[in-house]
Amino acid sequence: MRTQLDVLVRTALARGAAVPAFTCYDFTTALAVVEAAEHIGAGVILLVAPKTAASPVGLRLIRALRGLADAAAVPVSIQLDHASDITAILAGVAAGADAVLVDGSALTYEENIQLVRAARDAIGDPGIVLEAELGGLAGDEDRAFALNASGLTDPGQVADFVARSGAQLLAVAIGNVHGRYAGEPRIRWDVLADITSRTKVPVVLHGASGLAAQDLAQAPASGVGKVNFNTELRTGVLSMLQMQILAHREDGENLLGILDLWRETVRAFTTASLETLSGRANH
Ligand code: 13P
Repeated sequence: MRTQLDVLVRTALARGAAVPAFTCYDFTTALAVVEAAEHIGAGVILLVAPKTAASPVGLRLIRALRGLADAAAVPVSIQLDHASDITAILAGVAAGADAVLVDGSALTYEENIQLVRAARDAIGDPGIVLEAELGGLAGDEDRAFALNASGLTDPGQVADFVARSGAQLLAVAIGNVHGRYAGEPRIRWDVLADITSRTKVPVVLHGASGLAAQDLAQAPASGVGKVNFNTELRTGVLSMLQMQILAHREDGENLLGILDLWRETVRAFTTASLETLSGRANH
């Protein structure tokens, strides 16, 4: 069922859980995320990466995800991830995205605020939820390289940034990176505590791939209401394909079997993430 992303996240936080968000490059992955969420009975977020949205089939994919979300038995939101172009944001929203991460993190502080406000003005509809990002998160959204964290969010800017940008969720840089961590990830819980003491909007943790389950389990109690996963899901699907393609080719060009395994891989990852973020997993 369609749901407003901030309502989904705040409801989860109120019961001590965070909502996982998964990058969906294709419909099969999205189907499996929703299947797993329905099985558990919890809400999820389907992320559309900017390169996907800008591709020739991006808007069609968003429309298809809209249909999937509307028909789901659990709350599902569709979010345009890391968007910084107003025309692309409007196209994504018109195609069916419920929420947008308006990403001005590469801009100056003032330009970042202006971009979020410009997106709000351009969209008009107050039901479309805007997340903003403060601090510089290292890494590429679609390709994983070993990285060290950089550009921590400055807690001193948080209250002013949220008030003036109108952001309804805040993505932070607290030692997290997109892609693979060069060494042991070191999440700066002290910086996170400082951030959450200065704002009431839910905090979003990007770059969850590679973080320890204990860290993820601890996140909701620290004010993190949404956690974004991409790389680990890709790794799981690609490893499965590497192991299974040849046998399925020899088994009568069995694409259906591969798609079943694809969904099984994504369902397992989604289930584990939902359980970890709701404190239901045993570590
Ligand atoms: P990872 O690829 O590190 O899981 O990050 C995903 C993400 O933050 C999507 O916005």
